[in-house]
Amino acid sequence: MTLRLYIPIDAAALAVGAGEVDTAIRAAALRRGVAIDIVRNGSRGLHWLEPMVEVETPAGRAAYGPVAPGDAESLLAALLADGAHALGLGPTEDIPWLKRQTRVTFARCGVVNPRSLEDFRAHGGCKGLERALSLGAEAIVEEVVQSGLRGRGGAGFPTGIKWRTVAQTQSSQKYIVCNADEGDSGTFADRMIMEGDPFVLIEGMAIAGIATRATKGYVYIRSEYPHAVAMMEAAITAARRGGLLGKRIAGSTFNFDMEVRVGAGAYVCGEETSLLDSLEGKRGIVRAKPPLPAHKGLFGQPTVVNNVLSFASVPIIMDKGAAFYRDFGVGKSRGTMPIQLAGNIKHGGLFETAFGITLGELVDDVGGGTRSGRPVRAVQVGGPLGAYFPRPLFDTLFDYEAFAARDGLIGHGGIVVFDDTVDMAKQARFAMEFCAIESCGKCTPCRIGSTRGMEVIDHIIRNENRAANMTLLEDLCHTLKFGSLCALGGFTPYPVMSALTYFPEDFGAPPRLQAAE
Ligand SMILES: Cc1cc2nc3c(=O)[nH]c(=O)nc-3n(C[C@H](O)[C@H](O)[C@H](O)COP(=O)(O)O)c2cc1C
Ligand code: SF4
Repeated sequence: MTLRLYIPIDAAALAVGAGEVDTAIRAAALRRGVAIDIVRNGSRGLHWLEPMVEVETPAGRAAYGPVAPGDAESLLAALLADGAHALGLGPTEDIPWLKRQTRVTFARCGVVNPRSLEDFRAHGGCKGLERALSLGAEAIVEEVVQSGLRGRGGAGFPTGIKWRTVAQTQSSQKYIVCNADEGDSGTFADRMIMEGDPFVLIEGMAIAGIATRATKGYVYIRSEYPHAVAMMEAAITAARRGGLLGKRIAGSTFNFDMEVRVGAGAYVCGEETSLLDSLEGKRGIVRAKPPLPAHKGLFGQPTVVNNVLSFASVPIIMDKGAAFYRDFGVGKSRGTMPIQLAGNIKHGGLFETAFGITLGELVDDVGGGTRSGRPVRAVQVGGPLGAYFPRPLFDTLFDYEAFAARDGLIGHGGIVVFDDTVDMAKQARFAMEFCAIESCGKCTPCRIGSTRGMEVIDHIIRNENRAANMTLLEDLCHTLKFGSLCALGGFTPYPVMSALTYFPEDFGAPPRLQAAE
């Protein structure tokens, strides 16, 4: 009998020793003369349980974790007996944290072998592409519009409308660009898809190519993601070999091919127009709009720029239909969102759920509060440009409009948790410092204002002319918000002003009444 095990090859699992666990289990099996077959899958996203090892049983997979190399012997002995082990978590699908989720975009992540196109197909892969081919370009766009899918990169722009604009723009050459720069703090969903289910991204981009008559795609991946780069490159090669990319894809009349490009590590290169400059081999600087990338994008040609999660959500929309996807969610936030729980949190990881869950449920119930065991004081949602939310705002629904109504944003779905030891004046200063370091320099409010902002916060922290400097800081934030060309300068005021509004005592002012807003 061959024992089939699954050990994640995802970067988060590797960082906590998944490679060493693999080696130790192989060595233990060799010593015992046991035949084993280890599949290196993606992560299920339960980060506090990584490395999580799964074993195939007649009743499905059973999970163990977090496994250390030193557990290899005892784990193997248990697997050869009745499976009982101190690290046992029971049937994987029954782990409450996983069971509570609605895995739509991440349905295959952690399940399939990311290196195997056959495994992808065996788990429903390519079905979306097949239906897309049967629908034709216009109907694909209409289906994506009807699904209500909004861009998962941050701005939440309707994906179908973007595709329609590119489809309706005449040109002999169009491009599909995938934004895998994933620079937001506390986010890792793009990486998990690329490392755990890379073919779904290829499928989504190929569907976008068919819908808009674009024949060439690029995945722009941040250089800090070497495992994702390697996995995507291997998947593209396999997809080409398997007829999913190249000439006459999947037996159709469409040609579509793609390649990986690695960014050099600038937050602003996640902004779509500076990303395009970077892809063209230039220094990444934000372009003024118009023209929109949909009209004049990469090399001046009509270009779809979408986030990894946006593309990865399209195959299931094609396969199951717009109504299936649209039925999840609330208001104008349709479908599911892969939320990433990070920072000082007990149960961090990837939690995909329909829009509409409250922030409090996510932090307290799903996340289990802080890892330090101290009270949660603030959470930053939506990356470094997102607002800090205090506990009285934890009734906010995870929904684009609900967050915007409270001067926040959900961005790419990252939630970073802080306990009561956080100094919010320092966090506000950090927001200005981040902007100063990452500014592309094109416009004055961001380039100069962020440095002046740091200085003003320093004065406030040192209690120098506090009242006047508080007024100055508010004025500066106003200038940044309304005078910046892109959201880096335009949204830096959100973390700063939310820190000032909800945590004034950290700036030396009287505390705010902590009643519900
Ligand atoms: C400073 C800055 C950084 C950004 N970083 C990213 C990023 O890392 N990944 C991403 O998908 N979008 C990022 N965006 C948003 C993109 O400009 C763009 O809206 C997105 O790629 C469009 O794809 P979507 O509609 O699928 O979200 C960033 C925007 C700004 C202003
Ligand atoms: S706001 Fe900052 S990053 Fe954006 S264009 Fe202006 S200088 Fe560049």
